Amino acid sequence: MHYGARGEDMTYSNGRNIRVLPDADELGRAAADEITRRATQAVNERGKFSVALSGGSTPKILYSLLADPEAPYREKVPWGDTHFFFGDERHVPPDHPDSNFAMAREAMLSKVPVPAENVHRVEAEKRDAIEAANDYERVMRDFFGTEQGAIPRFDLILLGMGSDGHTASLFPDTDALAEQSRSFVANWVEKFQAHRMTLTLPVINNAHVVMFLVAGGDKADALRKILAAEPGEQIGRFPAQLVRPLHGELLWLVNEAAVARLQSAK
Ligand code: 6PG
Repeated sequence: MHYGARGEDMTYSNGRNIRVLPDADELGRAAADEITRRATQAVNERGKFSVALSGGSTPKILYSLLADPEAPYREKVPWGDTHFFFGDERHVPPDHPDSNFAMAREAMLSKVPVPAENVHRVEAEKRDAIEAANDYERVMRDFFGTEQGAIPRFDLILLGMGSDGHTASLFPDTDALAEQSRSFVANWVEKFQAHRMTLTLPVINNAHVVMFLVAGGDKADALRKILAAEPGEQIGRFPAQLVRPLHGELLWLVNEAAVARLQSAK
C-alpha cells in the first residue's frame, strides 16, 4: 500500500485511489479544482453540467470557495450551463437550519450568477415525504429525459460519509439501500424517527463522476475498512462501500485526520 505525500494520490493493492489533503481547507480547494475541471469538460462535451450537491458540513467550505470572488474558481464555473440538484434532503422546509438546500443557498447559490431555473431543490416542505420524493424523481426524469424506470446519469455526484459509513441519506440497515429501480426515494431512518429523501445507489453508480469528500477523525475507522476492502468484498454494513460507479470515476478526497488509521489496515 503506497501512501501519497500531501495532495498526492494514494494507491491501494485493490486499485482504489484516494487523495489525501492536509486539512479541510485544502480538501475544499482540491474539490473546487475537480469541480471546475469537470464542469468545463461536461459543458464542452454535452452542453451542460449536472451536479448533485451533498449536505453536511464538509462540502460547505467547497461551496463557499466556488462562490468566493477572491478565489480562482468562481470565474471558471459555467454557471449558466450548470444545473444543481441535491443528493439528499431532510424532511424540512427550505429555510430550516437542517435543510441541505438552505446550507447550499447560504454558502453559494445566493452569491453566484446561476439562473434560478437551474437550481432544482427538493420540495421537502411537503407534509408527505414520499410524495416529495416522487415529485423530485419526476423533476430529474424531466431534466434528463429519462422514461419511468430509466436511470438518470449525472455528470457529478458529490457525497460525504458519516462515521457509520452512511452516504447521502443511505444509512445502514435502511430500506433505500435495496432500491434498484427508483432514482430518488423517501427513506425512513429509525434513529432520526424521520424520513430522509435520497438518491438511490442505481443513480449514484450511474454517474460520470462520484466524488467523496471526507474529513474528520471520526470517519477514520469506517474509511479504513471501506478503502482497504477488496472490490466486491462486503466488509460490513457501510453504505459508502456500495458506491461503485459502473462506467464512471470514483474519487475520494480525504483529509489527514480521516486517514489516520490507514496505517493499521491490512
Ligand atoms: C447530509 C449528507 C450526509 C453527510 C454526512 C457527512 O444530508 O447530512 O448528505 O450524508 O454527507 O453525514 O457529513 P459531514 O460532512 O458533516 O461530516
